[in-house]
Amino acid sequence: MRWGSTAVWLALGVLPCLQGVEGMTAERRVELREETRRLFKHGFDGYMEYAYPADELRSLTCTPMHRDPNPGNFGVNDIHANVSMTLLDTLSSLPLIHPEAFPEALHRVATEISFDQDVKVQVFEMTIRAMGSLLSTYQHLGRIRADDDEGELKRYQPRLLEMALDLGKRLAPAFTTTTGLPYARVNLRHGVEKGESIETCTAGAGSLILEFAVLTRLTGDERFEALAQRAYLAIWNRRSTHNLLGNSIGVTHGQWLAPGMSSVGAGMDSYFEYGIKAAILLSDDMYLDIFQDSYAALQTHVRSPDGFIYRPVQFRLLQLSFPSYIDSLAAFLPGMQVLAGDVESAIKSHLVYWNIWRRYSAIPESWDWAKREVEWAGWPGRPEFIESTFYLYRATKDPFYLRVGERVLNDMRRRTMTECGFATMKNVDTGELEDRMESFVLSETLKYLYLLFDSTSTPLSNSVFTTEGHALSLPLSLLRPPSAIRRQMHRGENLFCPAYTPSTLNGLVVGIERRSDYEYARSLVFGPGLDGVAEEDKARVGWWEGGYCEVPITPKYSFEIVLSPHDTSVAEPTPPEDPAPSAEKVHQDIQTGDFWIDNIEGLRLGVRWRYDGTGYDVSYIGPHRVRPGQNVIVTDPKMEGFLPVHGTTLTQSHTPSDVLLRFSSSSSSTKSSAQPEIFLHGMAATATFGKDFGADSSSISTPAGSLSLGGAAAILYRPKRNTDGCDAFPSSDIVVKAGKAPVLVLDRGECTFFHKALNARQAGAAGVIILGYPPKSAEVGGGEVGEVQEGLIRPSAEEEPDYLISQIGDDFGVLYVDWVVGRAVVDVMAEQGKEVGVELFDLTSMGMGGGGGGSSGGRNGEREAAMGGGGITREGRVMVAGWDIRNLRIVERPP
Ligand SMILES: *[C@@H]1O[C@H](CO)[C@@H](O)[C@H](O)[C@H]1NC(C)=O
Repeated sequence: MRWGSTAVWLALGVLPCLQGVEGMTAERRVELREETRRLFKHGFDGYMEYAYPADELRSLTCTPMHRDPNPGNFGVNDIHANVSMTLLDTLSSLPLIHPEAFPEALHRVATEISFDQDVKVQVFEMTIRAMGSLLSTYQHLGRIRADDDEGELKRYQPRLLEMALDLGKRLAPAFTTTTGLPYARVNLRHGVEKGESIETCTAGAGSLILEFAVLTRLTGDERFEALAQRAYLAIWNRRSTHNLLGNSIGVTHGQWLAPGMSSVGAGMDSYFEYGIKAAILLSDDMYLDIFQDSYAALQTHVRSPDGFIYRPVQFRLLQLSFPSYIDSLAAFLPGMQVLAGDVESAIKSHLVYWNIWRRYSAIPESWDWAKREVEWAGWPGRPEFIESTFYLYRATKDPFYLRVGERVLNDMRRRTMTECGFATMKNVDTGELEDRMESFVLSETLKYLYLLFDSTSTPLSNSVFTTEGHALSLPLSLLRPPSAIRRQMHRGENLFCPAYTPSTLNGLVVGIERRSDYEYARSLVFGPGLDGVAEEDKARVGWWEGGYCEVPITPKYSFEIVLSPHDTSVAEPTPPEDPAPSAEKVHQDIQTGDFWIDNIEGLRLGVRWRYDGTGYDVSYIGPHRVRPGQNVIVTDPKMEGFLPVHGTTLTQSHTPSDVLLRFSSSSSSTKSSAQPEIFLHGMAATATFGKDFGADSSSISTPAGSLSLGGAAAILYRPKRNTDGCDAFPSSDIVVKAGKAPVLVLDRGECTFFHKALNARQAGAAGVIILGYPPKSAEVGGGEVGEVQEGLIRPSAEEEPDYLISQIGDDFGVLYVDWVVGRAVVDVMAEQGKEVGVELFDLTSMGMGGGGGGSSGGRNGEREAAMGGGGITREGRVMVAGWDIRNLRIVERPP
């Protein structure tokens, strides 16, 4: 399994370029990158001059910072191990951002730092800051060629691994509990101290797996990965029935400690992050399964119904905490969501933090989202928000995120830069500073800013950044193949992330700042009214006194359903749950990975929202987990009421609901060998009548020239008159060239979609593409004239009698595109001698889940074979809450 989500986006390469979006020039981006580099050097050189070998710099007084004599000051002492922590933590960033300083820094780390210290420190902090940096730098040196200029630095490589191993051995005593949960703190020389607190947090105990696994794989010493994995599972095995986790736990008894609040912030954040990152780094499905379940629980219970705010809830009772804070650490979430493939959710959660940043020019440690007030005003230069900005830019390439970075850079410089480094902000309102520079200001905050502006850095696939920003990767030789049983359970799984599709307005692709919910996110932070709106935007914003016009609603993320017969005239009670259904009821096909349900009685099905936003997938059937890409096929005769009957309107059976169109033009006067020139990508809605693009087309005789998914380009034709197709076409209007009937491009008009299609069909066309109406001007907000967006609509023929619909036939494709897209196509066709072709692609088949996509012909074939060659003649679908369950289908029981 390779889950390189970023690589998938890059490989797709079908994103339309952003139009109507204020960009950023390449020169400006380089300027910002170099300015970030200057700040990084300033901080690093300041630390080396004024603080080294102390762990941290006091950045106001320009003096070294030492351990606090008060042992209870964990905020300082947890990381002050007398190991020059700032140097150590920053080491892995130097080759990229401050290469001149790297050789000396490396030499110092390798020769002057020892972990043999009589200090009690935090296991988690030492792992992520020190061990992570050592392993990452070790791997960096491994990639340098011996005959390079820097080749001689390779001699430090063994020492770095030795140091990481030494540190690992000194942290290992923390794990000597019966639960496998590590103590939060350990003395590097003497192990766990007498009377040590048994309380630890979920993140501290459960996010050590990346560093410990890499340490094991590089040294061959098995114990580290085993310890970290055991701790990770010890946390997960104590989840609530809602798959939620508490915040802190006792390591000796394994009981959650009150109040058991579940959130994505302090104390929990990196637990989720390490699930998805371990799945990527180790290519291990176990972590992926746990991540998917823990993420679904967050999306279902912690995320607010509008989809923007992640609020702490009691992990068993689901009560919201009151008063309710969200914290600065939780700003890591959008980055993790991007990595998981859920870009839409990432955009939303990031917008909340962006507005908090705009309001305070920093992010307060905690903030009351109900009162819109600062709760804890400090900002120690934390990286999470800028880290997420970096991931979102990578995924969307929307220059909005570069401007976010620019704002952060300017505010940091203006508000926190001192003579020798960067100060901690004590109060984001007043700007009061504190005499400390945390090591992550350099190793993460400025590093992620640098990466954001750096267009040359490598994509992320096949490597991850730890929660402290250290890059780790594992070569194939160090990966472990999954067991046979795991391979079987995951058969048919499809892990590709959906490509990001930018929002459109009137068919034009627009950026994040013109999304309809951008202003809504602002209102969550600034409150109702026009606070925080730039002067030039005030007229554009659809606000009035008293509130915003539209509160977005996000579909519920996951829930449980019971399949029941369509015929509700017989009111039967729902049968009790069958916790262990027999193979006669449900079984997994070992060839395809699909699940077959022959008897629905007592089954509980979990459904989960798809990352591509096209509906739901079944995620489990009782005790069986259904993975993305695996189908669920129901043959129970009780469900036959869902089967479409021939001759009726198959309104919900047509999939996919939209397709990607690629328009190309070639000059018909030149030789046909000339490559056609692609000039536009656009989305189209498919009709609910006529051709079903997702259906197995092998049984339908497809006329040459027709529209089909993944097939050859169809040739477009624009009638000279009767451009809306409401009148019959004289057959002389449609010219069949080289045996290929053309596809007509028609305007909206006074007649129905169905009548246009029928007229075109009767004139011998192979299909139609219908253009939406031009955008309407409308009054918006304070009298400003705006344009009303109609969006894609699905042509249907519900009013028509069956005998007429059958005249369209199932080989005649009907598509609907926005006016702007259609206009561009018509204009190119109007140019002399240009022939325009269109190809169709199924975005859902590139996304997660099979979902009956156009490329599933092979799968259909397999299914027919599995049914003893009988073939499926009728299929039905089930919808919940207005959405298709994409991987579920009802079929006739094979004879
Ligand atoms: C810090 O570490 C150095 C070298 O490892 C050692 O010489 C020194 O005594 C340590 N300082 C303290 C205060 O423990």
